[in-house]
Amino acid sequence: MAEESTKLRLAVLASGQGTNLQAILDACQDGKLAAEVVLVISDQEQAFALERARQAGIAAQWLNPRQYKGRTAYDAALRTQLEAANVGLIVLAGFMRILGKDFVENFTGRIINLHPALLPSFPGLHAIEKAWQHGVRYTGCTVHFVDTGVDSGPIILQRVVEVLSEDSVAELEQRIHAAEHEILPKAIQLFAEGRLQMDGRRVIIKCSNP
Ligand code: GAR
Repeated sequence: MAEESTKLRLAVLASGQGTNLQAILDACQDGKLAAEVVLVISDQEQAFALERARQAGIAAQWLNPRQYKGRTAYDAALRTQLEAANVGLIVLAGFMRILGKDFVENFTGRIINLHPALLPSFPGLHAIEKAWQHGVRYTGCTVHFVDTGVDSGPIILQRVVEVLSEDSVAELEQRIHAAEHEILPKAIQLFAEGRLQMDGRRVIIKCSNP
């Protein structure tokens, strides 16, 4: 019981399939991640991420942007939910909505985002397709702290994925997703262990205590 209460409380924000949410849930279940997902929020009613949360017995909420007058009101509602759930870390796992400056500044250092490219290359939407079309030999994925720019915050972890000549976008996407499912829980675990230290925009990963 005492152990439960010391676990890092996570909120996961997702707009789509939620395979990365699932990777987090699995890592928690397998004891690889000392955290618990306490809330899943989506801006999309049909996001399968919400269904995954419900199946895992986790509070799942659709926060419909159409019910709010603009970004500020939406972000305020989001903030209320996150504060009520007393979350220690907010994980953007395929959340396809830009968060406003006030929201981000309020949670600075406590929001991380997953991006399907090696930032700072290919920020924004359709990153996998853009990298494929550009003809890069290597792409990958990035977990980074969120700042007020788009996909511009300090980088925590990256994983390189080779682009094979015969790859279709779908094949490349599959391997990038597999890499994401590894690095996202790892980055959260580093945060949970208090091992991420900021040095300007560089993130230092401190050694684990023996
Ligand atoms: C992931 O590939 C993530 O990197 C991407 O959305 C996907 C969500 O997959 N995020 C972005 O493109 C954000 N710019 P999932 O719903 O299966 O976890």
